[in-house]
Order: sequence, then C-alpha cells, then structure tokens
Amino acid sequence: MGIKVSAVGHALGERVLTNHELAQHIDTSHEWILERTGITQRYISDHKNTSDLGTQALKNACERYNLDPQSIDAIIVATMTPDHFTPSTASLIQAKMGLNPLKIMAFDVNVACSGFVVGLDLASALLESKRFKRIAIIGAEVFSKILDWNDRTTCILFGDGAGAMIIDYDESAPPCVCVNHSEGDLDGTLRACGVPLLQEDARPLILSMQGKDVYRFAVDVIPSVMQECAQKAKLTLESLDHVILHQANQRIMDYAMKRLNLDLSKSISNIAKVGNTSAASIPLAISMALLDGSLHHGESVMVVGFGGGLSYGAASFTL
Ligand code: COA
Repeated sequence: MGIKVSAVGHALGERVLTNHELAQHIDTSHEWILERTGITQRYISDHKNTSDLGTQALKNACERYNLDPQSIDAIIVATMTPDHFTPSTASLIQAKMGLNPLKIMAFDVNVACSGFVVGLDLASALLESKRFKRIAIIGAEVFSKILDWNDRTTCILFGDGAGAMIIDYDESAPPCVCVNHSEGDLDGTLRACGVPLLQEDARPLILSMQGKDVYRFAVDVIPSVMQECAQKAKLTLESLDHVILHQANQRIMDYAMKRLNLDLSKSISNIAKVGNTSAASIPLAISMALLDGSLHHGESVMVVGFGGGLSYGAASFTL
C-alpha cells in the first residue's frame, strides 16, 4: 500500500528578523551566526499564534492544489509550542477551517523537531487501516514565544512558521516507510518547562538547550537512522532524489551528507532564510522547494527529524 502526496503548503511569521538586527540587541554578530549555523534571517510572528500559522499553511496547500478542505478526514499537528494545552492546535485548526466535525479526527503530537516525521508515521498507519482516506499533517511553531531573547546561544537559532502536507491512501502509489526512535532525556538537554507538580517549582516557559550535546546527538543519529530507513524501504540512499533533513544547523546537515558520501546538492535547505522552525521545518522546506523548483512531485525523498526528547526518525516516500 502507498501514499500519495496531494498537496503541500506553508506560512511564515510576518516579520523578518535579520542577524544584523539581533546583533544590535545581544552580544553576537551576523558573521558568527552565519558561520556556525548557516542562518542569515528568520521570520517572527508578532500577532499570529501557532494555530493561525497552521491554518494559513493548510489553506495555502488546499488553494495551491485546488483541493476541497472538506475532503480531509483527519488533522495531525506536530508542535511543541501549542496555543493551549487544550484544546489541541489541531482542533483549533479544524474549527478555523470550518471542517465537518462529524467526519474529522484532530489531535496534536509533541515530539519537538521530530514531530513531523512521527505525524507522517501515524498518518500512514491510519491510512493503511483504511478508516481514513485523506489526512493533513501540519508542523506549526511559534518558537519566538518561548525564547529567552537575552540568551544568545538559543535565540539566534529559531524562527516561526508552519508547513502542511495532505496525503491520501493510494493502492498504486509507492509506500511510505517510517522509523522513529526515542532516547529519553532526563538531563534537560533540550527542554521547555511545563506545569510542575508543586507551585514553588514553577519556572518560566522558556527553552533551554545544551547546544553542543544536541549537535553531537544529531550528527550521531542522522546517518544511522537514514541507513535504517533505507534498509527497511529496500533502497539505497544513493538512489534517493533528495534528502530533507530537519533544518537545525547547516553544519549538521552538511556533516551528515558527507558522512554518508551523499551529494550535498541533494540536500534541500532553507535554513538561511527561515532558521530552525522545529516541527515545521521539514514541510516548510518541502513547500518552499516545490515553489522554487528545487523539488518536484514524483521524486523519491527521505525526510529526517531529530531533536528534543531526545527523538529521531526518518521516512522515505515519493513526493
Ligand atoms: N554569538 C557569538 N558568540 C556566541 C554565540 C552567539 N550567538 N553563542 C555562543 N557563542 C560563543 C560561546 O560563548 C563560546 O565562547 P567561548 O569560546 O568564549 O566560551 C563560543 O561562541 C563557541 O560556542 P560553542 O557553543 O562551542 O559554539 P558551537 O560551534 O557549538 O555552536 C550552536 C553553537 C548552538 C550553534 C551549536 O552547538 C548547535 O547548532 N547545536 C545544535 C543546536 C540545535 O540544533 N538545536 C535544535 C535541535 S532540534
């Protein structure tokens, strides 16, 4: 059984924030950020929350492909910056799109930057069950609301955005092969605090990260999970048309491609323009690359997520 990608769309925060602007407020420079991360700017959402960007991305997908939103059976939103604990961001998007409540199942997954790959894994399994025909997977984040804008080791990395991919069950399409893993992190390698049991333990909802540890984790797991996914899909990594890695750091992406002896030009990257948008990064990169012509429908791709959890996963499918 296979999946067919029926539509892809995206949305970005409305304000561009350049490295130069950041350097006016914190002790950093455009050159440092560019050299260490590949980022030159990111988009910040001042007025739209995560469900607004997710709705905008889903509408963009439906409009670009002339697809009726009422034909969607389920919405899965990958996010670690939801509007609320409840209702889910997916339920808010369903309401904002005016989708038929009797037909649709909507829920969020929080697997940080691996969330889109986990959402795709779940969606493929739901389609395979044949209870659903068409599912929207949306990665949406407004990371700017959980950043400490005085912490130069984190605030330079992230941006706000959303990407949506609508997939259908299609007997004749190639399969979507997914692998996902979790290495529980009790040490706070990458953490945004939630609600503590005791009020005196309450801390602000701010992202903290041991950047070097995350870097080491990423360059270790990306090649292995890609090889595992390729093996499961019975294909070689060299045969893929493109690889879309979670856009965390250009150096991480280049290192992983080189370690696997893969052509760097096969790696899709939009990090220079949008920074790290966490769960949104993979569908956002796909959507922007389809628009600028560096990706095409019908091509074979592998997407790779990694990050908080610590979590990592990969999925191979035809775009
Ligand atoms: N501007 C200028 N200097 C900075 C800086 C900034 N924004 N951030 C850190 N520095 C300084 C450090 O204080 C350190 O100074 P010191 O040598 O005097 O102590 C120096 O630059 C080197 O810092 P280091 O942390 O070793 O840099 P790095 O090369 O590891 O790059 C990251 C830092 C965060 C870019 C990198 O570790 C990274 O990308 N990690 C992965 C993070 C990530 O992707 N997270 C999300 C996962 S989904």
